[in-house]
Amino acid sequence: MRRKLVAGNWKMHGNLASNQALLDTIAAGMKRIQGMDCAVCVPFPYLPQAQSRLQRTEVAWGAQNVSPHAQGAFTGEVSASMLVDFGCRFVIVGHSERRTLFGEDDSTVAAKFMAAQGSGILPILCVGETLQERESGITAQVVNRQLDAVLDAAGVAAMAKAVIAYEPVWAIGTGRTATPEQAQEVHALLRARVSDRDPGVARGVRILYGGSVKAGNAAELFAKADIDGGLIGGASLVADDFLAICRAAQG
Ligand code: PGA
Repeated sequence: MRRKLVAGNWKMHGNLASNQALLDTIAAGMKRIQGMDCAVCVPFPYLPQAQSRLQRTEVAWGAQNVSPHAQGAFTGEVSASMLVDFGCRFVIVGHSERRTLFGEDDSTVAAKFMAAQGSGILPILCVGETLQERESGITAQVVNRQLDAVLDAAGVAAMAKAVIAYEPVWAIGTGRTATPEQAQEVHALLRARVSDRDPGVARGVRILYGGSVKAGNAAELFAKADIDGGLIGGASLVADDFLAICRAAQG
């Protein structure tokens, strides 16, 4: 059985004071939630805050981006080993906002994925189609291409130490969630794609759904066979909503 994971993606939100209140409430609430994994992916400057507040709690933490480079003259970049210094367990790679707003292509995403793994951090690899792509009937083609880029570069065994997140672009921050059936269909496709290379790895890899997950729709999404939790944007900024989503993932 795959243990469910609910990861918050704070994006570029928060400040020291509001984060502290949010982290306090999440850490306290997680004491009463069992049988699932919980994490928050915070902006870089708040990693020390997450580390000091969350160490020795049930909540893991991580970052939202990482450099593909190990070190050097890369102004503004943050390396995987720097994330390790602040106790990161996870890092999001290939989020659609980074792909579209910051020009990250499949090979950059694969390089970031490998940089994270090289430092022992679990990458959360995001894939997902735009509305136009869905309406053109090429959803499978798009997500398979995004997944294959990483499988080709890193090898299928790498998926044993990673998480996949299916995030349809049209569902992110729009309030328009994929139906559980729509999400399950793509999750099954992704798992089958990994299974073509290694069935054992495919059975173990967690595939999260992301895109307007809320307290009210989490349980029906998480009930699907291939949905192993969620990557949560907006609702991860409201402690009670985030905790309700974590509760829906309890084993
Ligand atoms: P959302 O974002 O939950 O606000 O739709 C999800 C994400 O972008 O990871």
